[in-house]
Amino acid sequence: MSKFTYPVITIMMTLLILSACSKNQADEPKPVVPEKPGTKVSYAEVLQPLLQAKCAGCHAPGNRASTAWSFNGYTSVTGNADRIKQAVLVSKTMPIGGTLSATELQSIKDWFDQGMLQ
Ligand code: HEC
Repeated sequence: MSKFTYPVITIMMTLLILSACSKNQADEPKPVVPEKPGTKVSYAEVLQPLLQAKCAGCHAPGNRASTAWSFNGYTSVTGNADRIKQAVLVSKTMPIGGTLSATELQSIKDWFDQGMLQ
């Protein structure tokens, strides 16, 4: 065997392992909000599904935190904008027991900054 055989095998194994890992990553659930910088963020396309996934479990009408804030459509969000901003973007106390990715946080911030598009 040539003295190059072992390095070559090592490199091939490494590539195999790396490609197996990247395949696994592709199988992971996509973030709720795929967003490019500068994209217009609308309630219907971005905020509604995001809040539905991350907040409705506790805040939908009748659920355990609906007295603190009842998540029930566009005006339930715009009408409580300051409290939601405070809880999600400033104090980051919400979502309890969950997380928001950097992209999701940016989308929420953009939505407020862009004037809460419907
Ligand atoms: C696991 C349950 C749970 C989840 C998930 C959750 N919350 Fe809450 N939320 C609570 C509870 C309980 C309270 C009341 C106690 C408190 O304020 O800490 C609350 C309070 C609030 C309030 C009122 C704060 C105030 O000013 O009185 C807002 C606004 C809020 N949540 C927004 C959100 C948003 C937005 C999300 C999703 C990103 C979210 N919450 C996810 C349980 C939850």
